[in-house]
Amino acid sequence: MAEKETFGEIRVDEPVSIVIFGASGDLAHRKLIPALYIAYAQDLLPSKFTIVGFARRDYDDATFRGMMTESVEEFSRIPVEDETVARFVEHIRYHRGDISTPAAYAELMEKFRDVETYPENRLYYLSVIPSLFETAVEFLKQSGLIASPGGSHWTRVVIEKPFGKDLESAETLNAGLLRHLDESQIYRIDHYLGKETVQNILSFRFANAIFEPVFNRGYVDHIQITAAETVGMESGRGGYYDEYGAIRDMVTNHLLQLLCLVTMEPPGDLSAEAIRNEKVKVLNAAKLDIRKDISDAVCRGQYGSGVDDNGQRIKSYCEEDRIDPNSQTESFVAMRLKIDNWRWAGVPIFLRTGKRMGKKGTEIAVQFKVPPLQLFQQVECEEDVCDITRIKPNTLIFRIQPDEGIFLKIGTKRPGMQFVVEDVNMDFSYSGKWNKSLPEAYERLLIDTLHGDSTLFTRSDEAEAEWRVVQPILDHFDKLKPYSYPPGEWGMPEADWLFHGVEGQWRNE
Ligand code: BG6
Repeated sequence: MAEKETFGEIRVDEPVSIVIFGASGDLAHRKLIPALYIAYAQDLLPSKFTIVGFARRDYDDATFRGMMTESVEEFSRIPVEDETVARFVEHIRYHRGDISTPAAYAELMEKFRDVETYPENRLYYLSVIPSLFETAVEFLKQSGLIASPGGSHWTRVVIEKPFGKDLESAETLNAGLLRHLDESQIYRIDHYLGKETVQNILSFRFANAIFEPVFNRGYVDHIQITAAETVGMESGRGGYYDEYGAIRDMVTNHLLQLLCLVTMEPPGDLSAEAIRNEKVKVLNAAKLDIRKDISDAVCRGQYGSGVDDNGQRIKSYCEEDRIDPNSQTESFVAMRLKIDNWRWAGVPIFLRTGKRMGKKGTEIAVQFKVPPLQLFQQVECEEDVCDITRIKPNTLIFRIQPDEGIFLKIGTKRPGMQFVVEDVNMDFSYSGKWNKSLPEAYERLLIDTLHGDSTLFTRSDEAEAEWRVVQPILDHFDKLKPYSYPPGEWGMPEADWLFHGVEGQWRNE
């Protein structure tokens, strides 16, 4: 067994059967199986567990185990030991079946009669297209594969975002799932919540006395949240992405979750319900900052073609595989929100995300107001033109990825005879403090589902509140035609207009 390189995670004791629907897909291959292997190698899984791969393809147990061995070898975060992988894959079985056919569930139920091999606590992971969520749950229920909550064995169902396509479909999906399951049995995964740096936002805010008193409209000028990616439509994602776009793919889940964590009120305790109640409250207060027209608050973009550093042509969004050549789907979006509550009234909040941007990086920047008296104005001269500049405001940056850490920009006197104030960083970086790789989001979230801890999962009212924030955009797509931006840039100049009346601009760092 590999030496336990954990951060003190708690082992799962209860035996469990983990059924992965869509087991031949990319998520199972790249994330789920490697995450389960890591949990196994670190001795976090119970002594009795079975993983069932459920998919349509014609494999047997041996072939499927071979494929899962390759997944582990290719994608494990920790070094892989042959002997440990061999023991791990012995826990894996394959169930061939069509998710939309009741017979496949009846056959699974037959197998499940052997409770020695298939423990009666069951986790169903629906790694399939959202339109199949309700079907799968309905057939599981009909076949007697879902235990009632509060009984001697538990059933939990994990679903992947997007949880709907708009507010109405999110409500329909929730109602459909709740016909067959109790809310406590549903685990809506937003993998951003499993990131170590994202969880640290709450500890940073509420475990330190010095920052929280200034997290409000009295001191904060504005907040910017950016999730920039350099990738385009690789790995055959075009079909899905063109139907959803950046707003549905990234904003109504990852970005709004970051917004919640940085702006919510302190919960009464750290229970899942207390934290999620606070998130719902702040989401209900968040609105697009529309003055006259929706275009004051939202800017959509789509990448055009370009040339990379090696002189190779980069395809435009519309030329990518499985994208409609006349598509109006956004690969970039920037928006300005406001939060109508006592703490944040009047503080603009900017969100931005896009594909094929200059640099991969996700961060939250809280920019504070400039000091009331400009005692330290300084003169900056370029050739014979001199400008008086104000000192820069403090900025607190939560760096979610890469170079994970927290940075505070402060003005400090540059050594020397003159009184010149320079911007420096006070920083905490994960790599400087802990010399081991951070657990991946799926490792943490899968273990949480096995422990029955839903703190880092989205509740149904929370998912609906997220859609409510963006619904005005979806209703006015016709007024928000995407602008073109060059690949490798930070979007397009039109997104700068969102900063009207604000002392600041996008941090393109
Ligand atoms: C996924 C989106 O949820 O998150 C992808 O569907 C996106 O489009 C990905 O690329 C980004 O995740 P991360 O962890 O790399 O920031």
